[in-house]
Order: sequence, then structure tokens, then C-alpha cells
Amino acid sequence: TTRTFFVGGNHKCNGNKASIKALVSELNKVESKSNVEIIIAPPSIYLDYTQSLVDSGKIQLSAQNCYSETKGAFTGEIAAEMVKDLNINWVIIGHSERRSIFGESGELLAKKTKHAIDIGLKVIFCIGEQLADRQSSKTEAVLSAQLGDLKSLDKKQWDSIVIAYEPVWAIGTGVTATPDQAQDTHKYVRSWLKDNIDETVAAKTSIMYGGSVGAANCNALAEKPDVDGFLVGGASLIATDFSTIIKSAS
Ligand code: G3H
Repeated sequence: TTRTFFVGGNHKCNGNKASIKALVSELNKVESKSNVEIIIAPPSIYLDYTQSLVDSGKIQLSAQNCYSETKGAFTGEIAAEMVKDLNINWVIIGHSERRSIFGESGELLAKKTKHAIDIGLKVIFCIGEQLADRQSSKTEAVLSAQLGDLKSLDKKQWDSIVIAYEPVWAIGTGVTATPDQAQDTHKYVRSWLKDNIDETVAAKTSIMYGGSVGAANCNALAEKPDVDGFLVGGASLIATDFSTIIKSAS
């Protein structure tokens, strides 16, 4: 495809200065194809440190979350403006762990996304169904509602969004969506974009897959036409595995 293939490493709440240094020194050596963008998301407290280590021509950084307001009395939060101030251009919004563990609503996620894009960040917006949703054939309804939360965005703002489809039952479980399940769902997401936003946005928006992606399953997933990258958790902490995933780009 002509879409950019994104490979994101979401470190979640893992790592320390020593492990980041070791990981980045390996990732700085990876040769990737020209249509690939590599983005790593360490915990926010390590963003500046990680930025000082990466080969910025090769690897971009992302925050794992940020708040919907510019500044103020929001103890424990970081503002999109602060991310931008570090010359970091990406933020992950709506990860299933933010939704389920921290109770973030679709309304809040839409506010965060809009604010982040307004101040010049690009957003990896995560969506995904629970196992019970899939088993009761509600996957498309759930994804439609999660995407529908973004309906207040201007069409132009979609240029700053990459979608990450992460079925919750596949996250950290070792159970990956099959390549056909991923393809079918990504195709549905693209059709939603066509029907609800516009045809160009549908054709241009990259859709990453996330959920137990590893060195052994990335190639078969990457071959699928609507799989435009990966958002990787556990395997992104292991340099050899993450490098293999980067090289699987099609
Ligand atoms: O953001 C990443 C996903 O939650 C996937 O995590 O690769 O450990 O299953 P995982």
C-alpha cells in the first residue's frame, strides 16, 4: 500500500534508565524500509532521557497519554503542550488500559484527542472490543461507537490520526488475532471511515494492529492489505523481537 507502516513500541509502565539505554542503542542500528515510521513510547518520566539517546532520523517518540487541558491544578497529569515542548510529536490516546483501569470515557478521550491535535501533536488513537463483545458479534458496534466519539473532529484533523486496533482479549495474553480476523476488522474500520468521515481519509489513514504481536506472528499479519503497522507492548521491550517486527513491514 502507499500508506505509512507504523511500528510503535508501547512500553507501558516498564523499564528504567539502564534498560532504555540498552534498548535504544540496539534500535538505533535497525535498518528499516523507507515507508516505515518507528515510534517508541516510554513512560513519560523517561521521555526526555529517551529523546537524548535516540537517532532522531530513525526513531520518533510518543507519550502514552496526556490530559485534555493546557495546564492547571491536575495533579499527576501531563499536558499535550509539555509533550510538544520536548519536541515530541506523538501521543497514544484511548489505550484499553486507560479505558478500563483508569475509567477514561469516550467523551474525555475525544477532548484529549482534539486538544492534542489542536496544539500540533499526532495521535495514535486506540480502539478494540472485549472478548464478550466478539463472542456476541458486537465487535463492529463497539468499534463504531469508539470511533464515533471522534465525530466532532474536523476532517482535516484526521490527517493527524493513526488508528490502533487492539482487541482487548489479545493484549498481553499471548493470543493474537489471526491475520484474517485482523484484516476483516481493519477493513471494517476503513469502511467506517469511508461512510462517516470521507473516502480520502479512509484510504490514507494507517491502521495498526496491536495485541500479542511478536517476532513469530508479525510477518503473516503484516502481509494483510489493511494492516498498516503494529502497536507492540511486551515484545517492544526486547530489542531483537522489536527489530524483527520493524522488518516485517510490507
Ligand atoms: O499497546 C500495546 C498493546 O496493548 C499490546 O500489548 O503486545 O503486550 O499484547 P502486548
